[in-house]
Amino acid sequence: MTTPAHSASGLQAFLKESADRVEGQLQSALARAEPGAETLYEAMRYAALGPGKRLRPALVYASAAAIDSSARHRELCDIAAAALECIHAYSLVHDDLPAMDDDDLRRGRPTCHIRFDEATAILAGDALQTRAFELLAGCDAPAELRLQLLQELARASGACGMVAGQAIDLAAVNQQPGLAQLEQMHRLKTGALIRASARIGALIAGADRQHLDAVTTYADAIGLAFQVQDDILDVTADTATLGKTQGADAARNKPTYVSLLGLDGARDKLAALHRQALDNLAGLGGNCRLLEQLADFIVQRGH
Ligand code: IPE
Ligand code: IPE
Ligand code: MG
Ligand code: MG
Ligand code: MG
Repeated sequence: MTTPAHSASGLQAFLKESADRVEGQLQSALARAEPGAETLYEAMRYAALGPGKRLRPALVYASAAAIDSSARHRELCDIAAAALECIHAYSLVHDDLPAMDDDDLRRGRPTCHIRFDEATAILAGDALQTRAFELLAGCDAPAELRLQLLQELARASGACGMVAGQAIDLAAVNQQPGLAQLEQMHRLKTGALIRASARIGALIAGADRQHLDAVTTYADAIGLAFQVQDDILDVTADTATLGKTQGADAARNKPTYVSLLGLDGARDKLAALHRQALDNLAGLGGNCRLLEQLADFIVQRGH
């Protein structure tokens, strides 16, 4: 994990190692079922351990490496990465529900409420969310850092972060918001957790204020870029590659970067955000190569 990645294959190895570490952590965090609640646990595992890209965990590890390239923060990063992935998985389960995006395909498989049922999917999302905070609260970090990490995750997940973005997203169906409003929605619904992933990695590695600010500005740019690319892929990719239904945004008349700026405009925006992200990496104390490569991966990804 601390080996510098100097090539695309280096990035692939890093992504694989990050995914393996966080999946191991998730396996043990979600292993024990309360008697009588076995289906709930099965649904939690189905949602959290499905074949995702594990991008947020990768950001935790890469940001920590950009501050301090030694391996000594790795176990704490494992816990934080698992907590972020629990929140992310919960957000996807609820995002797919009939009352929200009403999708039946996720990560190439039936969505949680299709595989199980709606009530189980709601509860699995609820339980994944609280498990995330339980993991962080119990981690082996000094109390002050633990509190900081909990606050980062809570802020990014809730009513001034992801959930606010989801509310704006739902209210915007059949509307034509301006660019500023669309950006605000994207920054909250997707950007907030990506920002938190990067900040949490940096905080674990002991970032000072200046370095934390640089990582945050980088993450804000790639967080927005990530959702711009998600909007582009909804138009340009196919269902098999995406693992979720292609054209779902247009079918539901959702405002997106593509619907507002057109495909070329959205691609220009993506390129500008990519440059902006990279501009913030000079001057960090550790190995920035992974953050650089993750930014490239985010704008070039095909699903
Ligand atoms: C999908 O996120 C939802 C958005 C925030 C756009 P990802 O594309 O990271 O989903 P997985 O985890 O790889 O399935
Ligand atoms: C989802 O955005 C963002 C969250 C789950 C918080 P989308 O609705 O665009 O995500 P996909 O396209 O269904 O993955
Ligand atoms: Mg949605
Ligand atoms: Mg959706
Ligand atoms: Mg989408």
